[in-house]
Amino acid sequence: HLQLTLAIIKPHVMKVPHVLQKIRNLILSNGFYVVQRKSTFMTEEVATTFYAEHRNKFFYNRLVTFMCSGPLEVHILARQDAIKVWRNLMGPTKVYHAQFTAPMSIRGSFGLSDTRNAVHGSDSLESAAREIKIFFPGFSIDRWFLEE
Ligand code: CMP
Repeated sequence: HLQLTLAIIKPHVMKVPHVLQKIRNLILSNGFYVVQRKSTFMTEEVATTFYAEHRNKFFYNRLVTFMCSGPLEVHILARQDAIKVWRNLMGPTKVYHAQFTAPMSIRGSFGLSDTRNAVHGSDSLESAAREIKIFFPGFSIDRWFLEE
């Protein structure tokens, strides 16, 4: 079924235009439709909400500091099985795993560390709806068919 997912290109990638362009090209060549796209910053307030499930993790402070350190490019992507397909394209969270088990994935290619892992993608339908609302409060998600 057609799904939406929220994809974020993280600050270290935004500093390298040809890598940013490569990731945009991968989005299109993998059959995603870009429903919305914007460059923006994550404020500490938004980061607190967005990463609420990680607030007790050892990496929380460095994650928030990093994500608020520069501009992001945030996308709402649509595709059949968008959540799973985008997560496959991203590769594993940890850069070591990404480089060894999925070297051609986005994180395997462009991840610098477990924190600076190049891109984000929603992990479930519920997360996608929640995350889209945070970055695109005016977007009417109810008009889209969101199902497994
Ligand atoms: P993402 O999956 O987008 O959202 C949670 C983020 O936390 C993750 O990307 C990484 O940037 C970060 N993260 C996850 N695990 C670790 C870790 N072990 N060490 C540092 N950062 C991490």
